[in-house]
This record gives sequence, structure tokens and C-alpha cells, in this order.
Amino acid sequence: MSQDLLVKRSILIFLTCFAFLLSASSLLAGEYLDSAHGSSSIGVFRPIIGNSPPSGFNYSRGNCAHCHEQHASIEGSEPAPSTGGPSSYELFARNIDTAQKTGPFIEADNFCFYCHNSPTSAQAVLNNDYSQSFGCAPQGATTIMTTMNQRSYHNLYDIWLLAKDNFAWFTADSNPCDACHNPHLAKRNWANAKDPTFSVMSKPTDHFALWGTTETMDSSYNTKYEPPFCSSSLLTREPDASVDDAAGRASTPDYVAFCVTCHTTTDTIFSTSLNRNLSTIDWGNTGDKHGLRLMDGTVSTKEPYDPSSGGTDFVLSCLDCHEAHGSGSVMLMRRRANGSDLTGTIDTFETKDWGLICLKCHIDDDEAGIGNANYWEYVHHQVSDAPYYKDGPCTGCHTRGAGFPIDCQECHTHSGTPTKADTQGSGIGTYRIPF
Ligand code: HEC
Ligand code: HEC
Ligand code: HEC
Ligand code: HEC
Ligand code: HEC
Ligand code: HEC
Ligand code: HEC
Ligand code: HEC
Repeated sequence: MSQDLLVKRSILIFLTCFAFLLSASSLLAGEYLDSAHGSSSIGVFRPIIGNSPPSGFNYSRGNCAHCHEQHASIEGSEPAPSTGGPSSYELFARNIDTAQKTGPFIEADNFCFYCHNSPTSAQAVLNNDYSQSFGCAPQGATTIMTTMNQRSYHNLYDIWLLAKDNFAWFTADSNPCDACHNPHLAKRNWANAKDPTFSVMSKPTDHFALWGTTETMDSSYNTKYEPPFCSSSLLTREPDASVDDAAGRASTPDYVAFCVTCHTTTDTIFSTSLNRNLSTIDWGNTGDKHGLRLMDGTVSTKEPYDPSSGGTDFVLSCLDCHEAHGSGSVMLMRRRANGSDLTGTIDTFETKDWGLICLKCHIDDDEAGIGNANYWEYVHHQVSDAPYYKDGPCTGCHTRGAGFPIDCQECHTHSGTPTKADTQGSGIGTYRIPF
């Protein structure tokens, strides 16, 4: 045995002790072994330490040391700090580079990207976005890093800032991915999409448990939650082509409660990538109509939300419209919703292209039989409870460019007030339209 290998063997013994101490204090071995990372069949495995000698050291798949090692003591790269002791949490690479304030991200920006990326310098892990794993979309980005390197993404730096100030367990050295995941517990929901006990999520306020195993859209909202269509035939539901609505809602974790742990009705969240504060989110009964707030009058929605087929006052899941990590459209918008792909992407904020996602569930002029796809005269001017009459000069409202259309987000935002309606002299005033 070479001197080098001997040293590494003794470090292995040290690490095993380290792991024992740690596991005694905060980790239940069973839970870890049931996690995706701890699994002996699909879990963590860095060939550089897992292979048989001489190319590796025979660490078994799932061993903690595939992530934890002392200060580059086995085969890690030199993490920060470059001098003065082991890196935080004794990981094989730096947990987070907080100097990286916006994307695009590279492997060295985040410890998780040493594996959740491809190719990698550790272990490539393939993952799909929500639209695909749970919404029947065709192949999109294939790793978490590439998903986050699209037009919009949950900015890791801002999440780190927010979590550090709000959740006691989260330290300045913690990983922003861990604000939503516990790497010792997370399971593989996508491979068991119809079984929420395989949750990937941990609420930042309850980090040492999985979220959504029993807390489902069914247990929280019952039939007020209508799982969207999944397959293009419109015969199955999310998640992952569930046979019917009951099966779908029982299999969908309560993403609303998860997301609003951070996106509260009161807290100001600053986004470095958008360079502004985000609007608050209110899914309660005085907030958005896509939440618990009742609709007024009639609603012009398609199946499976058609009120004429029985249901009213639906509550949507955040992930019916949003991705969790990133998207080719702005604002983490999904590329497929309610059983069909978006025609194109939503590239800017000031646009009528928002209609591309609305029309997945609402009746546009084409569906109403009065005009083209993604034109919206019907719901605003023609339906019985239309909000705007076409009296007075059309230019009172339709003044920008050719006048048509008016950009949707001037009026439709979460918990928002229209920001530009007044300058159009429309008389629309401070109409608040939480959608
Ligand atoms: C050493 C490689 C490695 C590192 C580092 C790593 N992962 Fe993983 N991760 C894996 C493997 C392997 C799986 C399971 C295999 C699979 O799902 O294909 C997995 C699975 C997961 C899952 C469960 C969902 C799924 O696709 O199975 C989550 C969530 C997850 N990882 C998050 C993280 C987070 C967060 C970090 C950083 C704190 C991280 N991972 C770091 C290798 C790694
Ligand atoms: C997929 C990589 C990965 C694996 C495998 C892994 N850990 Fe961790 N562990 C992490 C990361 C990342 C952190 C830092 C947590 C944070 O960002 O706050 C961490 C933190 C910890 C902590 C500090 C307390 C806490 O939970 O945050 C302990 C203790 C710990 N790990 C023990 C273990 C033990 C013991 C094992 C094996 C049984 C293990 N870890 C396996 C990635 C991993
Ligand atoms: C704001 C919360 C949040 C953050 C931050 C976050 N995730 Fe996730 N992640 C989720 C949610 C919710 C899901 C379940 C839905 C899904 O699969 O898209 C998920 C799913 C996953 C999955 C399984 C994907 C699949 O194939 O279905 C992996 C792996 C994962 N996350 C890794 C990461 C890594 C690595 C990071 C950091 C770079 C990260 N997550 C940051 C919320 C988050
Ligand atoms: C751990 C706290 C946390 C959780 C949980 C969380 N978010 Fe966020 N979210 C943030 C922060 C911080 C920002 C600001 C950074 C940014 O713009 O990406 C943000 C930004 C966003 C944005 C704007 C993204 C953009 O284009 O910049 C959307 C959309 C969003 N979140 C949706 C969600 C959804 C949906 C969920 C649930 C799956 C969720 N968030 C869960 C912290 C969180
Ligand atoms: C019906 C589709 C839909 C649902 C459901 C939905 N959103 Fe959104 N969300 C949007 C659209 C469209 C935008 C962009 C317009 C805007 O900024 O308000 C957006 C923007 C956001 C933003 C950025 C707000 C800003 O200041 O620009 C956040 C944060 C967010 N959503 C979080 C959530 C959370 C959390 C939930 C669940 C409680 C949720 N969304 C449910 C469609 C939806
Ligand atoms: C995933 C399906 C879905 C998507 C996508 C969607 N909606 Fe909705 N929307 C609904 C449902 C269902 C209702 C009825 C809510 C209820 O019953 O309380 C609704 C209600 C509304 C209402 C209240 C109508 C009333 O008469 O009270 C407005 C306004 C609205 N949506 C606007 C939008 C806009 C704008 C978009 C695109 C940015 C959009 N919606 C995207 C499903 C959706
Ligand atoms: C009180 C404000 C208001 C007045 C006055 C008004 N509209 Fe509209 N109109 C809207 C809003 C809001 C929409 C929805 C956004 C959009 O599609 O431009 C709309 C949509 C339309 C659309 C669909 C455009 C598209 O591309 O989606 C047509 C066509 C239209 N209006 C015609 C007219 C005509 C013709 C008049 C005058 C006889 C008129 N409107 C007066 C507010 C108004
Ligand atoms: C000047 C403000 C304004 C603009 C701009 C605007 N809308 Fe609306 N929209 C409204 C109002 C007001 C309602 C009625 C809301 C209600 O009943 O709660 C409405 C209702 C809707 C509905 C719900 C229809 C239903 O099912 O009852 C949809 C969908 C919608 N708008 C889509 C759009 C789209 C897409 C655009 C951009 C092309 C747009 N709107 C632009 C004010 C506006």
C-alpha cells in the first residue's frame, strides 16, 4: 500500500468516526438510508473515492464521504478558506460562492452543481424540470444547473440572503438549495410521482423533516384543487398522468404552503436579478382569485375548470404555473400548462405574451369563436360580466403603439395594483386585479 493510500485510509477511519458523531446528534441513519443520496442503489458515488483501488478507495455508494471530507483531505478540490482549517461542513468543495450574485452559474458557484450538472468533475446527475417530471412535457433542460441557467431562475444569492436572516438553522455558510431541500432526507419524487411520501422538499421553517408527505393539495383544499390535465389527450391529470382528479390531488404536495413560507403576505423580498422588490403573495380569501378568494360573477375557464361542469372557486397550486428552479420564460413560467405546451416563450415583462399561459385555462377570442388565439376582446368586452364597455373613445384605454393590445401585466399581477393604467387616461384608476 502506498504512503498516499495509507494516509487516505486513516482519514477514512477518522471520517467514519466523524460521521458517527454527527449521525448520533442530528441524523437518523434510517432516514438517511431511505433518502436519494443515502441509497445504496442510486445514491451518491464519486468514482474518485468509490472505485476499487488503485483508482479509488472503495467507498460504498451512499457513504457520507461522497460529500463530506476534511479540507480536500481525500480527493476534493481546495475549498474556501484556502488557509486555516477545513471548509464549513467539511464538504469536498465550497458550499456556496456568495460573490456570485446572479446567474449564469458554474459548477464552482454551488457545491450541489458538482453533481447536479453534466458533465461534472464529481458525479453527473440527470434531472428534469417540473413541466416534464410532473406535467407530461417533452424533454427540456436535463440538469438542475442547466435549468437554472435559463432566462429566469430562483436566484441562489437572494435565497441565501433571505434564509440566513430568517431561519435559525441556516448559517452564513449554508447552501441556498438547502433552504428548500434537506440533502440528508430528500427523496426521489420524480421516479415515484404518484407517491408524495417520496418528497424532495423540506420547508425552511421545518428543515429536519420532509414536507408534503401527508400535506397534499387534497388534504389542504380537497376538491377546490383541480389537478390540471397532463397528457395532450386531456384524459389524465398531473402529476405524471394520474388516472383521475382524485388521484391527482392526493398525489400533489401542498406547494402553496411550501412557497408562501418565504413569499408571505407581508415580507419584502428583494431580487438582485430583477433589481426590485417582489410583490407579496396572498393566497388567502382576500388575496388572489387563483387562491382562496372567490371569483366574482362568471368566469371564462376551460376544462377541467369549467364552472358549468360543477366546480367553482378553485384554488391553484403555485406549480400549476411556475417552475421551482428556472425557465426559458421570465418569472419561472412553466413551458407546459394544463395539458399542452406553450406556443413560444414569454421573453419580456411588458408584453401580451402572458396571454400564452392564460389561454391554457381561460377562453381567448379563438376559443370563444370571435377572433384569433391569444386575443382577449371576449373576456374584457363581450362576456356578460365583462369589466370594460367599449363606450367612449377606444383610445381612452388603447393608446400604446397601435393601441392593441394593452400589456397584460399592467393590470394582472399577484396582489398588485396597475402601475401604468392611469397614464393611459383610462379612468381605470387604481383597480386592483389580483389574478
Ligand atoms: C456527490 C454527488 C452529489 C452531490 C454533491 C449532491 N447530490 Fe443530490 N443527488 C445525487 C444523486 C446520485 C442523487 C440520486 C440519483 C438520481 O436521482 O438520479 C441525488 C438526488 C437528489 C435529490 C432527490 C431528487 C432526485 O432527483 O433523486 C435532491 C432533492 C438532491 N439530490 C438535492 C441536492 C442538493 C440540494 C445538493 C447540495 C446540497 C446535492 N443534491 C448534492 C448526487 C449528488
Ligand atoms: C449529497 C451530499 C451529502 C451527503 C451524502 C451527506 N451530507 Fe451532510 N451535509 C451536506 C451539506 C451540503 C451540508 C450543509 C448543510 C447546509 O447547507 O446548511 C451538510 C451538513 C451536515 C451536518 C450539519 C448539520 C446539518 O444537518 O445541516 C451534519 C451533522 C452532516 N451533514 C452529517 C452527515 C452524515 C453523517 C452523512 C451520512 C450519513 C451526511 N451528512 C451525508 C451534504 C451531504
Ligand atoms: C425555492 C425552493 C427551491 C430551491 C431554492 C431549490 N429547489 Fe430543488 N426543488 C424544489 C421543489 C419545489 C422541487 C419539486 C418540484 C420539481 O421537481 O421541480 C424541487 C426538485 C428538485 C430536484 C428533483 C428534480 C426532478 O428531477 O424532478 C432536485 C434534484 C433538486 N430540486 C435539486 C436542487 C438543487 C441542486 C438546488 C440548488 C442549486 C435546488 N434544488 C434549489 C424547490 C427548490
Ligand atoms: C427559501 C425561500 C423561498 C421559497 C421557499 C420560495 N421562494 Fe421564490 N423567491 C425567493 C427569493 C429570495 C426570490 C428573489 C430572487 C429571485 O428573483 O429569484 C424569489 C423569487 C421568486 C420568483 C421570481 C423569480 C425571478 O424571475 O427572478 C418567483 C416566480 C418565485 N420566487 C416563485 C416561487 C415558487 C413558485 C415557490 C414554491 C415552489 C417559491 N418561490 C418558493 C425565495 C423563496
Ligand atoms: C395562474 C398562474 C399562476 C399561479 C397559480 C401562481 N402564479 Fe406567481 N406569477 C404568475 C405570473 C403570470 C406572474 C408574472 C406577473 C407578476 O409579476 O405578478 C407571477 C409572478 C410571481 C412572482 C413575482 C412577483 C413580482 O413581483 O413580479 C412570485 C414571487 C410568484 N409569482 C409566486 C407565486 C406563488 C408563491 C404562487 C402560489 C402561492 C404563485 N406564484 C402562483 C402566475 C401564477
Ligand atoms: C392553470 C390554469 C390557469 C391559468 C394558467 C390561469 N388561470 Fe386565471 N383562473 C383559473 C381558474 C380555475 C379561475 C377561477 C378561480 C375560482 O374559481 O375562484 C381563474 C380566475 C381568474 C380570474 C378571476 C376571474 C373572475 O371573474 O373573478 C382572473 C382575473 C384570471 N383568472 C386571470 C388570469 C390571467 C391574467 C392569467 C394568465 C397570466 C391566468 N388567469 C392564468 C385558472 C387559470
Ligand atoms: C375602459 C377601457 C377600455 C375601453 C374604453 C376599450 N377597451 Fe378594448 N380592451 C380593454 C382591455 C383591458 C383589453 C384586454 C387587453 C388587450 O387585449 O388589449 C381590451 C381588449 C380589446 C381587444 C382585443 C385586443 C387583443 O389584441 O387582445 C379589442 C379588439 C378591443 N379591446 C377593442 C376595443 C374597441 C374597438 C374599443 C372602442 C370601441 C375598446 N376596445 C375600448 C380595455 C378597453
Ligand atoms: C386595463 C387593465 C387590464 C389589462 C391591461 C388586461 N386585463 Fe384582463 N382583466 C381585467 C379585468 C378588470 C378583468 C376582470 C377581473 C375580475 O372579474 O376579477 C380581467 C379578466 C381577465 C381574465 C379572466 C377571464 C375570466 O375567466 O373571467 C383573463 C384570462 C384576462 N383578463 C387576461 C388578460 C390578458 C391575456 C391580457 C393581456 C393581453 C389582459 N387580460 C390585459 C383587466 C385588464
